[in-house]
Amino acid sequence: MPIVNRISALHEEVTAWRRDIHEYPELQFDVHRTAGIVAEKLKEFGCDEIVTGIGRTGVVGIIKGRANGSGKVIGLRADMDALPLTEITGLPHASKVPGKMHACGHDGHTAMLLGAAKYLAETRNFDGTVAVIFQPAEEGEKGGEAMVKDGMMERFGIQEVYGMHNAPGLPVGQFALRPGPLLAAVDNFRIEVEGKGGHAAKPHLSVDTILVASHIVAAAQSIVARNIDPLKCAVVSICAFNAGFTNNVIPQTAELRGTVRTHDASVRDFVEQRLTELAERTAAVFGATARVVYERVVPVTVNHEIQTPFAADAAAAVVGDAAVNRDTTPIMGGEDFAYMLEARPGAFIFIGQGDTANVHHPAYDFNDEIIPLGMSYWAKLVESRMPA
Ligand code: NI
Repeated sequence: MPIVNRISALHEEVTAWRRDIHEYPELQFDVHRTAGIVAEKLKEFGCDEIVTGIGRTGVVGIIKGRANGSGKVIGLRADMDALPLTEITGLPHASKVPGKMHACGHDGHTAMLLGAAKYLAETRNFDGTVAVIFQPAEEGEKGGEAMVKDGMMERFGIQEVYGMHNAPGLPVGQFALRPGPLLAAVDNFRIEVEGKGGHAAKPHLSVDTILVASHIVAAAQSIVARNIDPLKCAVVSICAFNAGFTNNVIPQTAELRGTVRTHDASVRDFVEQRLTELAERTAAVFGATARVVYERVVPVTVNHEIQTPFAADAAAAVVGDAAVNRDTTPIMGGEDFAYMLEARPGAFIFIGQGDTANVHHPAYDFNDEIIPLGMSYWAKLVESRMPA
């Protein structure tokens, strides 16, 4: 496996950074400690420019190649935020903050990109400029969009962007990606049902919101089953149903919460419209009202046709062509890197993390064994996309 000696030599040091970040997880935009460490290390490595506070708490480091005849600028992105979970691994480097943990491996993503930045700043064996991008708030608060809206692409002249995420279940030493849609658009919704509360023994004088909301739950399942083209995909999941508080009161209100996942803009529009109609009209049939609050969180993560093969080739240069799945099955999870791929062409890749607990599980931990592979991928991508 062609991992250059210098990168192998960084394995232990980068593992220590990863575990330190793991011990002090931070949520959403509140990644001050992590962003501080990132900025400090980028300075130590001798980056040409370091800018903090992009998209509130994002950090960008600029590394110029030995030559700059190409005029190319490529962005490599990692995410820094953790999740509101309590870790149960019992590991020596487990989270020291109850209720917060790095359950998605963003500690590993940050550490690997820092390691790659150290290598690239030392060697500068490329013709062009690299922007290493560290974003906050990947987990639902649109940190990627915040950095793009803050003018990051224009400010640094970024022409292409690349992202990477660890994948439990994909063996160590393998990568996977595909051109086109790779991860889903993520939408959240809330349905507020209002009926008429009353005495449980006099249901005829009430409009029972629990019954009404139950019909909405059932009706919502007809969207995917009966309205979407079977050769296209969508998920409608209702994940919270809150109503009532005791045995003998019919509640005045009920609230449903859930998420919609799609891979196609027209399907996305259709689901929003259909869910709204079903909720409002079902409620009306029973003499209740339903108000649907629908929020589009993240667009589809679409890998670009030209850049995806470059990313695949860089991975193949590290692990061999047979270990790179260039046509992996898309998934219904979402990724806020989608905002960067809407702004600039590029590609997102999965790196095998082996047989570990799944992401967002309290027993998850990033697999430090894959650090040299991730760093080598970044280095190879830069050196092959902008050869010196
Ligand atoms: Ni993640």
